[in-house]
Amino acid sequence: MNTLTIRRPDDWHVHLRDGELLQLVAPATARQFARAIVMPNLRPPVTTTAAARAYRERIVAAVRSRGGAALATGFTPLMTAYLTETINPADLEQGHREGVLTAVKLYPAGATTNSDAGVRDLAAITPVLETLERIGMPLLIHGEVTDAEIDIFDREAVFIERVMAPLLQRHPGLKVVLEHITTSDAVDFVRAGPANLAATITPHHLHINRNALFAGGLRPDMYCLPVAKRELHRLALRAAATGGNPRFFLGTDSAPHERHAKESACGCAGIYNAPHALESYAAVFDAENALDRLEAFASENGPRFYGLPLNDGTVTLARRPTPVPERVGSLVPFHAGETLGWQLLA
Ligand code: NCD
Ligand code: ZN
Repeated sequence: MNTLTIRRPDDWHVHLRDGELLQLVAPATARQFARAIVMPNLRPPVTTTAAARAYRERIVAAVRSRGGAALATGFTPLMTAYLTETINPADLEQGHREGVLTAVKLYPAGATTNSDAGVRDLAAITPVLETLERIGMPLLIHGEVTDAEIDIFDREAVFIERVMAPLLQRHPGLKVVLEHITTSDAVDFVRAGPANLAATITPHHLHINRNALFAGGLRPDMYCLPVAKRELHRLALRAAATGGNPRFFLGTDSAPHERHAKESACGCAGIYNAPHALESYAAVFDAENALDRLEAFASENGPRFYGLPLNDGTVTLARRPTPVPERVGSLVPFHAGETLGWQLLA
């Protein structure tokens, strides 16, 4: 097979940032995907329908100014609100009804970039969770405990045991996406879970294990959260992504930070993979002899879980050497300097 044509895909988890960085990164996502679930962890975070509406307009404008009208009309940002202990459930419901808000994002306070406004006590947001459950609005979860005494490589597994399992029991009707999973524990939990539980998987967690962080020296460009785990976990993720279970789907977690912010004494977490995301996933599915399952993972499982229509139209990937540049402006992209084996055709 030398070309692969699939229904237009979506990215169910991306950071588009704001300001200058938004101008740089939004066109890359719009070139690859028809829709994207846009993370709300700006400073300050997006916590209201009004803020999400304004951010959506900035995204559409950024795509239009850099990519031309064709890109802008072909790309739909799906907005999320950042769950805080003081968020207004009535506003979330209204925003959902008006089509402004697609989902709500739960960051445990302190878990990752710009998450200090996150939730400390899940009991405090019970009314919000009841609202989401009632209206069928998905809850997207960054699944890591934040306790400093828990080993960083165990934080996802401990979160599943301490927080996720009880949460699903308390809210059996809640639609939950466990975001950017990194462990076999998460894979097993989702596989064994109910139909209203799903997970996204990033390209980088399919390609790298934790050795990549220390290959020949400290590698800040391989640092993201949740941090990459041991090889056995990477293999479990590859089996999950390529195995055909509809409750695993594409979410890049493309999370750009400028070079100086990555290469610092306290470097930021996040891998910028948007420019070659589909090519990166295609390499994995190809290596696993599962190219016939890429379409479901990239273009069908996500919208079906969210209850949204599948996209019209197709994209085509061709098998050909595709060099990834060392830099994109001030950013170092995932696979920088490597040559991938597939290319998304214009
Ligand atoms: C994300 C960011 O930089 O916003 N970083 C990351 O490593 N993935 C936040 C997040 O999704 O955890
Ligand atoms: Zn993220």
